[in-house]
Amino acid sequence: KQDYLIAPSILAANFARLGEECDAVLAAGADVIHFDVMDNHYVPNLTIGPMVCKALRDHGITAPIDVHLMVSPVDELISMFAEAGASYITFHPEASQHVDRSLQLIKSYGCKAGLVLNPATRPDCLEYVMDKLDMILLMSVNPGYGGQTFIPSTLDKTRAVRQLIDASGYDIRLEVDGGVSEKNIREVAAAGADTFVAGSAIFGKENYAAVIQQMRDELAQ
Ligand code: DX5
Ligand code: ZN
Repeated sequence: KQDYLIAPSILAANFARLGEECDAVLAAGADVIHFDVMDNHYVPNLTIGPMVCKALRDHGITAPIDVHLMVSPVDELISMFAEAGASYITFHPEASQHVDRSLQLIKSYGCKAGLVLNPATRPDCLEYVMDKLDMILLMSVNPGYGGQTFIPSTLDKTRAVRQLIDASGYDIRLEVDGGVSEKNIREVAAAGADTFVAGSAIFGKENYAAVIQQMRDELAQ
């Protein structure tokens, strides 16, 4: 399983030059653009919406866009992001009244669907929807802000969810989000993750290519 994806979170990019920042991380070797959507209701912060996703597509970004919805409710924004060019759409199960329906809504647009588990959320909620998941996103910080410290109990959960995925036989990516850097990415991968969100660890550096290469070197060990 050497199919690792590095997904810079544009939450830590310079929002005044978002198109160029996305071009730069992709040219530096990133695989996916991680797009954090916060609504000042589900989380205490406010970011960007479907118009900005569409603007990045119009700017010429063809890489997958991984839309992480930290919003409640979810269904209306699912439709808007699907139409704005999202590739993956993930949401927090407690933010939707009808989780299975919201997953079906994502799939109905041909997008890849995923659920996001907060640090204290149990994996039980995955059990009856595994067949509808393309991605499981484990939060390794509490959602709402970039630049927080990785919560170590995420590693145990990553091992547990990796077992669930392997036992299910479904092709589901396992993504970890929050406080991931070149310093801990190898440990996160060893626990079973294959997709790595990193905001401040990438956009906080001068040289995006150097830090992404460092991450790949860590993953290759
Ligand atoms: C947190 C967001 C993360 C965050 C990651 O609510 O979902 O994607 O931006 O940023 P870092 O890597 O700085 O923890
Ligand atoms: Zn995120």
